[in-house]
Amino acid sequence: MEYAKSKTIFGNKNGVSQFMQRQLVAVYDDNFTEEEIVSLSIVQTLAAITAKIKREVAVYLNRQGQVVLVAIGDCRNVSLPDLGRRRGEYRLSGIRCIHTHPSGNGALSQMDLSALAQLQLDAMVAVGVDGDGSVTNMGLAWGGGKTGETGKPKEKEILLYNSWETFAAVDFRKEIAEIEKSQGNVAGHRTESVRERAILVAVQTATEAEATYSYSIAELEELAKTAGVDVIGLVRQRCRHAVAATYVGRGKLEEIKQTLQNNPAEVVIFNDDLSPVQQRNLEAILDCKIIDRSSLILDIFAQRAQSNEGKIQVELAQLKYALPRLQGQGLALSRLGGGIGTRGPGETKLEVDKRAIQRKIRDLESRLQEIVKTRTLHRQRRNKQNIPLVALVGYTNVGKSSLLNLLTGSQVMAENQLFATLDTTTRQFLLPGGGECLLTDTVGFIRKLPHHLIAAFRATLEESLDADLLLHVVDGSSVDAEGQAEVVLRLLKELGVADKKILTVINKIDLLPTEQGLSRLLTLFPDSVGISALEKRGIGDLLAKIEGILSRQKVSFSLCIPFQAGNLLDEIHRCGTVTHLAYTAEGTEVMGTMEKADWQKICSRLEMESKKEVGQEDDTEIL
Ligand code: GTP
Repeated sequence: MEYAKSKTIFGNKNGVSQFMQRQLVAVYDDNFTEEEIVSLSIVQTLAAITAKIKREVAVYLNRQGQVVLVAIGDCRNVSLPDLGRRRGEYRLSGIRCIHTHPSGNGALSQMDLSALAQLQLDAMVAVGVDGDGSVTNMGLAWGGGKTGETGKPKEKEILLYNSWETFAAVDFRKEIAEIEKSQGNVAGHRTESVRERAILVAVQTATEAEATYSYSIAELEELAKTAGVDVIGLVRQRCRHAVAATYVGRGKLEEIKQTLQNNPAEVVIFNDDLSPVQQRNLEAILDCKIIDRSSLILDIFAQRAQSNEGKIQVELAQLKYALPRLQGQGLALSRLGGGIGTRGPGETKLEVDKRAIQRKIRDLESRLQEIVKTRTLHRQRRNKQNIPLVALVGYTNVGKSSLLNLLTGSQVMAENQLFATLDTTTRQFLLPGGGECLLTDTVGFIRKLPHHLIAAFRATLEESLDADLLLHVVDGSSVDAEGQAEVVLRLLKELGVADKKILTVINKIDLLPTEQGLSRLLTLFPDSVGISALEKRGIGDLLAKIEGILSRQKVSFSLCIPFQAGNLLDEIHRCGTVTHLAYTAEGTEVMGTMEKADWQKICSRLEMESKKEVGQEDDTEIL
C-alpha cells in the first residue's frame, strides 16, 4: 500500500530524536500473523517512545498484515490520510488502529470510540503506558458489527485487558469474520454511513434580541442537519461576554458534560466562532469533538463544491481557517475522528505542515486569480456586446435558483436545503420587449458567514455582483424575512457593492396566509415586487420592472461616427451627455453617457448606416 511504501512518519515530530524516528520507520517492516491484532514488538516500540516523548503514537494496520501508517501526536490530532476508499462506502474499512495513552490508562476514551465509528475501523486499541515505558493495560473495541445503532460499541463490548497474554489470545481474523457474518455483510457491500450525533451550544449575548437568538438556533440546527449530523440536545446560555479560555463559564461546562453523559454525542457544535485556544480547551475538557459555526459552514461548503473554482475557494477558506489552529510545525490537520469538520473538497486530506499549508494557500490563490482573469475577459466580451447582467442575491434557501430556472428555463438544482447551490450559474433570458439579458445565481448568504469564506468567494462574487442590477430575493414566508434581508445588505456592503441598483423580490408569496401579509412586506421593502417562483405568480410584473430599470441605466460610450452618418450626432446630443468631441480624418470622435435604451437605438441606427456603406470599416468602440 502507498503509505507502507513511503514509510513516512506522520504528525508532530518535534522533539522526536532521529533514533526514535528510525525506530518508528522500522515499524513499517514489522511482521505479524493474520490472527494477531498487533505484534508485541510494535506495542513495545510504541510504549518506549511514548514514555520518552509523552505523546500518543499510533499505527494503522490492514488485514493483509501490513502497517499502513505510523503517526505521532495526541490522539485527537493524529492524521489519517485517505485510505484509498471513500468513507461511508463499506461497513468496515479493513483498517485497525493501535495507539498509546501516555496517561497510563488504556481504557478507550469517547474520542477513541468516535474515531472507531467515524472511520469505520475494524478495531480500536489503546495501550496504557507508564512513565517508565511499561504497558499497564490495553483497551479494545471492535468496529462495525458489535455496535449499537449509532455505530458505536455497546458498553459490554468495550474491553480492558490487564495482561498481554489475554490480549494476545484474541483471534483477530475469527472476530472480524464473526462481525461480518453477523451483519450478513461481507466486506465490500455498500451500507449507509454512520451519522454523528451532536449537542448544540448557543450563547445569547446581552446585545442579541430574543427573536434573533431563536432564529439563529433554528438555523444552527438546520445547518447541522445539512452537514449530516443528528442533533440530540441543546444547551442555551445567556451571558454578557464569552469566557476567554472556554467560551462558556464553568457551570455551563458542567451542564454540557452532564448532557453528554445523558445523551452521548460525538460532537458539540457552538453557535459562534471559537478561538483556537477555546476549541482546544473545550476538546480536552469535554473529551469530544468541538465544532464552531464557521467550521460547520465550511464543512457544508466542502460537501457541496462541484466546480473547480468552488473547490479551490472552499479549500482556500479551510486552509486559512486551519492555519492558526495548528500547534507546532508538523501537526496534522485532519483529525482521527473523521466526519464533520474534517472533510475537504473531494475528501482530500490535509496532513501537511504550516509551511506546506502556506505554500498551498499561495498556489490556490494564484489558481483562483487565473480563473478570475478568464472571467474578466468573458465579461469584457459581454460588455462589448452590451448584454445587461442581472445577479440574484439573497439569503440561503429563499428561492434564487428556482427563480433562475423559471426565468431562463434552466435546471439548476433547487432544493429545500441550505446552500443547495454553491457554484455560480449564468444563463440568458429575454425581456418582454425582446431584449436579451443574462441572469446569474450566486451563493446564498447566512448570518455569521465565515470571513475566510467571504474572502475566498470575494473574487467570484464581485465578478457576479458587477452586474447592472441585483435582484435581492427575500423569502416572504419566513418570520425572519427582515432580519435575513439585513444580513444580505450588510454582506453586500462588505463586498463593496451595496451602492448598486437593487430590486427587492419578495418570493414565496403563495405561502402568505393573507393579502395583508403581502401588503405589509411591500411596505417594509419599498419598490419591491411580490412573486411566487413556484406558482409562477407576479413574474410579468417582475420582468417589466427589470426592463424598466435596465433601460433607464446609463452606459458610457466612445464612438467614431463616419461623416456620412452625421445626423446621428444630433441624436446623440439629444439623448445623452457628450463629454468629448473631435473631428478626425475618419469621422467624428464622440464620448459620453446615455440611457441604455437610447444607446441600443443608436447602435441599431449605426449598424444600418454601416450596412449602407458597404466596405466601410466599423471602428466603433464601446467602453
Ligand atoms: P441556496 O442554494 O441554498 O442559496 O437556495 P436558493 O435561494 O437557491 O433556493 P432554492 O431555489 O433552492 O429554493 C429553496 C426551496 O424553496 C426549494 O424547496 C424550493 O422549491 C422552494 N421555493 C422556491 N420558490 C418558492 C415559492 O415561490 N414558493 C414556495 N412555496 N416554495 C418555493
